[in-house]
Formats: sequence, C-alpha cells, structure tokens
Amino acid sequence: MMRRILAKVPASTANLGPGFDTLGMALSLYSWIEMAEADDGKSRLELFGKELAGLPAGGDNLILQAARHVFDEAGVPMPALHISVYTDIPVARGLGSSAAAIVGGLAAANALIGSPLTDARLFEIASSLEGHPDNVGACLFGGIVAASWDGRRAKHVRLDPPPNLEVLVAIPAFRLPTERARHALPESYSRGDAVFNIGRSSMLVAALATGRLDLLRFAMQDRLHQPYRAALIPGMAKILAEAPEHGALGAALSGAGPTILAFVDSESPRKAELERFLLGTFAAENIAAETLWLKPAEAGPEIVESGAEADRVPLPERIKGEVRA
Ligand code: HSE
Repeated sequence: MMRRILAKVPASTANLGPGFDTLGMALSLYSWIEMAEADDGKSRLELFGKELAGLPAGGDNLILQAARHVFDEAGVPMPALHISVYTDIPVARGLGSSAAAIVGGLAAANALIGSPLTDARLFEIASSLEGHPDNVGACLFGGIVAASWDGRRAKHVRLDPPPNLEVLVAIPAFRLPTERARHALPESYSRGDAVFNIGRSSMLVAALATGRLDLLRFAMQDRLHQPYRAALIPGMAKILAEAPEHGALGAALSGAGPTILAFVDSESPRKAELERFLLGTFAAENIAAETLWLKPAEAGPEIVESGAEADRVPLPERIKGEVRA
C-alpha cells in the first residue's frame, strides 16, 4: 500500500524586471497538494478553496501530468491517484500558480514512490512542462533562483534572499493567461535593448547577492517584456515608473502579470503610502485589485506524510491554521 503525501509548495514571482525567463523568487503564499493511491481504483482530483472554484478537474490537469512523468521516468506503473488540492495562490495572475501545481505534482509523486528522481531531474521535467525555468526553479529550490534551460538541460544557482526584503504585491481582479502575455512580445530585439537587459539583469543578481538594495531601482529596469505588456495592464507603466518615489526599492511586473510587485525594506516607514499608491493607480484605471504583504520564501516543497486522520478529515480542515484567513 502506498503512502499519502502532502506537499506544501510556494508561490513565485518571475523575471524580477529584466531577468526574463531566467530569474525567480519564491514567495510566502502556498498551495497544498495531497496525493495517495486511490483505494477504489478510480483517479479523483478534488479542488478546494475559492481560487480553484470553477476550474476543470480533468485528466489534463497539470498535477496529474506532472505525476505521470515521475512514474514513467521511474519505471513504476502509475496507479489510480486520489489528489486533493488547496491553494492560496491566485490563478493566472503572475504568481506561479501553474508552477506550484507542476512542482507540487512532481514532488508529491516522487515522494510517494520513495524519491527515485533527484531535484535536478525534477527541475528539468518542470521546466519542460512549464516552458521556462524561472517560476518552477524558484518554487522547487526556494529563495532567489537564476536559472537557465536549453530545452533539455536546466541549471540553476540559488541565492538566499537579502534580510529585510519584503514584497508588496498588487493583484488585479482580472486574469491574464501567460500565453496571451507572451503573445504580446516581439520575435527579435535590437542589440541596444539586449545589452540594456544583460546589464540590468547582471547588476540585479549581483545586487541581490551582496545586499545592495539601493541598486534595485536601477537594476530592475527592463526593455524585453514589460514595455510590450503595458497595454494589457492599465496603470502598470505609471506604477513601475513612480513606485520608488512612494517608498519602493524597485518594482516589476510579476511574471507575465497582471500582478505588480514592489520590493520594500521591511523597516520602511512608507509602507502604507506605497500600498495606497498601487491601489490608487489601479483604481484610477477602474481596475479592482488587492494587496498582500509577502516575504521571500526560503524553501521549496515541504513534504510530510499524512496521518491516519486524512482518511476522515478533508484537506482544508487539516491545514486551517496555515492558510490565508
Ligand atoms: N518568464 C515568464 C514570462 C513567466 O514572463 O512570460 C510567466 O510565467
């Protein structure tokens, strides 16, 4: 009899401005994915929580796809699985909900069969399922990740987040599918724009590695994706340009958007002002949004074996104390 595994996986923000498809940071907002062999032989996916309401729970689900890869690669026949999911990560908002589903599915399935696959291999599978390595890298390794994937092999370096770094996210109520936000990008760029981004992105990694938070405002500038996505997210251009004047260390579109993130010194006395500026700018564009104060998440998936009570008590009841109120 297989065990029942609960994986808690973090949200993530990708790009951090200039590091398009290469930089990511794990965030203190989570999904819980529980996986066990179904005792009645029938696969079942149960989705809990308001973020997942109305989403299809079919066999093309990312969690099941990820699990199938693990079983196939480990050479273990895949049994019917009972999967329960609860998430606090808003879907299609640029906070890594699909990366969390993929990484959670991979990590839970791998743990279920005794962890035959390494994290390095899970990272490669995750990158190919997601199509880029930045969110899945941050979700899998925690902290800040510089990642590179050539379509087959994925490499990464993980950095500890600087102390005192807090993250304010402004999450618009509307969803923006990543596919649509990628469609807005050009096929090619000028050498000037390429050099601009290499410079900013290199400086951003160095600044984060050495705690030079004073450089973030400059180092988070981007010419590869944000200018082209601005039309999809009214208010974004103003927020990115002016957030530092309202107390942010730097600001960026979170992944493919529409969420915008601002880095803030946790000791800053200007947090309320910044929050008002973000919400006010979206409101002026008639965009409903909510803000959340998050921290970088240090760790990737937290895996525990569920106890016997999991047979009787539904997942949301068991994680009540940990989820967002
Ligand atoms: N790097 C990706 C993008 C992240 O910006 O399209 C989206 O999940």
